[in-house]
Amino acid sequence: MDSITLKNPLDMHLHLREGELLKAVLPYTTKPFSLALVMPNLKKPLIHTSLVESYEKEILSLSKEENFTPLMSLYISSELSKEDLDSAQKKGIKILKLYPKGATTNSSLGVGDVLDSKLLELLGYAETKGFILSIHGESSGFSMDREYEFASVFKELAKSFPNLKIIIEHMSDKRSIKLLEEYKNIYATLTPHHISMTLDDVIGGMLNPHHFCKPVLKTKADKDALLELALSANAKVSFGSDSAPHTIESKLKGAAGIFNAPIILPFLTSLFAKHNKLENLQSFISDNAVRIYNLSFAKDKFVTLEKKDYQVPDFITSSLGDIKVLFGGDTLEYRIKAIS
Ligand code: DOR
Ligand code: ZN
Repeated sequence: MDSITLKNPLDMHLHLREGELLKAVLPYTTKPFSLALVMPNLKKPLIHTSLVESYEKEILSLSKEENFTPLMSLYISSELSKEDLDSAQKKGIKILKLYPKGATTNSSLGVGDVLDSKLLELLGYAETKGFILSIHGESSGFSMDREYEFASVFKELAKSFPNLKIIIEHMSDKRSIKLLEEYKNIYATLTPHHISMTLDDVIGGMLNPHHFCKPVLKTKADKDALLELALSANAKVSFGSDSAPHTIESKLKGAAGIFNAPIILPFLTSLFAKHNKLENLQSFISDNAVRIYNLSFAKDKFVTLEKKDYQVPDFITSSLGDIKVLFGGDTLEYRIKAIS
């Protein structure tokens, strides 16, 4: 196929940051995407509804001419209360994000013990209110096994709250796929990097800090199994870029995160075309998430990609410093032709 038109592309896991970084990265998502689920792990995490609301305003004021919805999320901290859940629901916030304490960027206010009785009571309440629970599912064990070790928590939560939709964010380990098959209320998001790269892309040659993210990239068998889930547009998975901008200076100091927002649609189209699976891209990039997260759109957005070389920029600029783009310098087979 020489061109493909995608309806309402959705990014169900996105870090936009605040201030100058937000300004620099935002258009790469607001132009081609209809909606993105915006992560709450700012330097000052969004642990109360009022904080989520002012962040939403900041995003909307910068993106007002675009047909784009930021789907906001509330960061689960020890301060979470039923009253907070009530006010979040009133304001239309329907995603709760759970970070284990210390698991990743800005997670120091995250959850120490996920199965603690107070949190379980709140999650039971969230279940009755129809919230969706997005989880960064990693233990504090050996890096390559962290997601696998967290499976027992996913199982416990899925059994305790059968009507709570639970999302395994940025699934990275093929051993997690079983959870999607065994529990009807467990879903996942998949990133461009976990379906296309392995640990060798980080440490196999010269150390490449720009490919360092959490959860860490894993084995070829993991990558291949996750790619298969994406290419088949498995009904339990949505696309979530986990685009996580850091300045090059921060990356060289060890920050975890890969900035991929500028390449997402050309990259996925090239990847699905290479595997003769373009017919599944619409489900993977939009339809599955519309169903799982129960989304609707006042006005549809259409993005046409054409089979013409796209030279990926090495970096984008911000007043805080440059941000390296995933696959910068490479040539992709497809590029965006039109957005309407
Ligand atoms: O690599 C990552 N970067 N993983 C995360 O979970 C968070 C993200 C960030 O916010 O930088
Ligand atoms: Zn993330």
